[in-house]
Amino acid sequence: MDVATALRTRGSTRAFLSRPVDPAAIAALLELARYAPSGSNIQPWRVHVVTGAVRDEICATVRARAARADAPPLWPYAYYPPTWREPYLSRRRACGWGLYGLLGIGRGDRDAAKAQELRNFDFFGAPVGLFFFIDDDLGPGSWLDYGMFLQSVMLAAVAAGFATCPQAAWAPYHAEIRARLGVPASQVLMCGMALGYADPEAPVNRFRPERLPVPDFATWHGAPA
Ligand SMILES: Cc1cc2nc3c(=O)[nH]c(=O)nc-3n(C[C@H](O)[C@H](O)[C@H](O)COP(=O)(O)O)c2cc1C
Repeated sequence: MDVATALRTRGSTRAFLSRPVDPAAIAALLELARYAPSGSNIQPWRVHVVTGAVRDEICATVRARAARADAPPLWPYAYYPPTWREPYLSRRRACGWGLYGLLGIGRGDRDAAKAQELRNFDFFGAPVGLFFFIDDDLGPGSWLDYGMFLQSVMLAAVAAGFATCPQAAWAPYHAEIRARLGVPASQVLMCGMALGYADPEAPVNRFRPERLPVPDFATWHGAPA
């Protein structure tokens, strides 16, 4: 698969088949992603792959915690702005409503929305979960590097016939996840990622949120040579 096709066809998958993934194929994705660039080549990524009983245990622990109304999520970093403003507010709403529309979740149906949120903590049925950690003394530059690594994992996955969903939703449950994986408190859980084979029948996997046209975000200066 060429890069253009991988870029166009990658999408966040939220329903997976239970079909297992060959561990050698997971290793091959990481083998490719390690070519991602990073400032001064410091390669800040630390990846944990969870499958089988470990995956199931983490899912059960986090689902139980996330379902509790008396235990609000504790974000280890600010993924989103503290208050939403335009144009981001409208884009965020369009994304949420588009997703809920495909799932048949009506506006204001909090129970159904909560149930969908909890699906994150089953990796949407994917047999493989990835957790991405970064040392807590590394700054925004390293987080920038990390984004390139994450996209590299996802593009390599598409090219190999897999589907993914990056999941910041796991981050507030860093304490439970670090405890199970033996990761020290000096590492921040940046996000998780579901990895597996997409369920081709699931309507939710048809969700393709719109993108801005290039003139809406790019400004050209000077005439072409
Ligand atoms: C770092 C990151 C974290 C995300 N976290 C979640 C998540 O927790 N749950 C989820 O369903 N989607 C999550 N997404 C998926 C976004 O909603 C999705 O990328 C966006 O709507 C664009 O859609 P696409 O990925 O299908 O192109 C995340 C995406 C990124 C890049």
